[in-house]
Amino acid sequence: MIVTTAQLFKHAYGKYAVGAYNINNAEQTMGLFKGAIASKAPFIIQISKGARKYTDKLMLEGMIRSADTIFPEAIFAVHLDHGDEETCYDCINSGFYSSVMIDASHDPFDKNVAITKRVVEAAHAKGISVEAELGQLGGVEEDVKVEDGHATLTDPKEAEDFVKKTGCDSLACAIGTSHGAFKFKGKQSLHFDVLEKIKARLPGFPLVMHGSSSVPQDEVKRINAAGGQIKDSAGVNVEEYLPAAKLGVTKINIDTDGRLVWTRVHREFFRDKPADFDFRAPGKVYIEEYAKFIASRNQLLGSAGQL
Ligand code: G3H
Ligand code: 13P
Ligand code: NA
Ligand code: ZN
Repeated sequence: MIVTTAQLFKHAYGKYAVGAYNINNAEQTMGLFKGAIASKAPFIIQISKGARKYTDKLMLEGMIRSADTIFPEAIFAVHLDHGDEETCYDCINSGFYSSVMIDASHDPFDKNVAITKRVVEAAHAKGISVEAELGQLGGVEEDVKVEDGHATLTDPKEAEDFVKKTGCDSLACAIGTSHGAFKFKGKQSLHFDVLEKIKARLPGFPLVMHGSSSVPQDEVKRINAAGGQIKDSAGVNVEEYLPAAKLGVTKINIDTDGRLVWTRVHREFFRDKPADFDFRAPGKVYIEEYAKFIASRNQLLGSAGQL
């Protein structure tokens, strides 16, 4: 059943984080629903601009509606990931999305406020909630690449001001993570000091952590042993998910890790069965492996067993 993002946040706040997983195709959708149900967890389906282009936004919508029918026990919200203003309006007017993210974090503070405010007004008129972003994560997201060293952590005082001025419903904060498989040089921790200060200024307000994939090193090793060349990868320590959730991080975004599962399954499959060409065989393995992955993440986020 599709529910509002606000309902999911209300239940989770301060206790656990809701996993937000991107989908692009049918196999990923099946794996996500199977894993969420096996772990009895509410979840958020995220759709990026790239995904909406890949197979068409209507294909994604159709798949999600079908999955909702196939898995009646699933409880989830549908969210636009990293939207620009135009895409936000398209999703708001579609009547299908539970929430949208307006990402104007690359713009100066005042411009970010102005754009976010317009989107909030349009969304709230239709009962849809809005995630905004303040601060800059490192790495690549949609069309914007942030160079190493240019990422800036969210300023807690600015965060309070931003939320007051925009009326947004949740805030993506930069607390040390970045998108993709190459997050850190060496081992690094989340900036819990910054997170504590944001929470002190915005008590009860849902925060969002992007770039939260853990980039499992055993997964990377298997990919590379099967012909891949993923070098110097590093991700978030999964032991930090729950402490972050207790400090108000209510939504944790995980996409890259799922792509690694896909890559490992398919590389190993075709390495071991070079004469095969029925794509349903590795597809079936991938659905099961992705379901297992989702269930394991929901355990770590504390969302498992919440239904
Ligand atoms: O933050 C970006 C998400 O991982 C979605 O990636 O824009 O390549 O679909 P994408
Ligand atoms: P990862 O690249 O760490 O999976 O982050 C995904 C994300 O933030 C989607 O918005
Ligand atoms: Na951003
Ligand atoms: Zn993101």
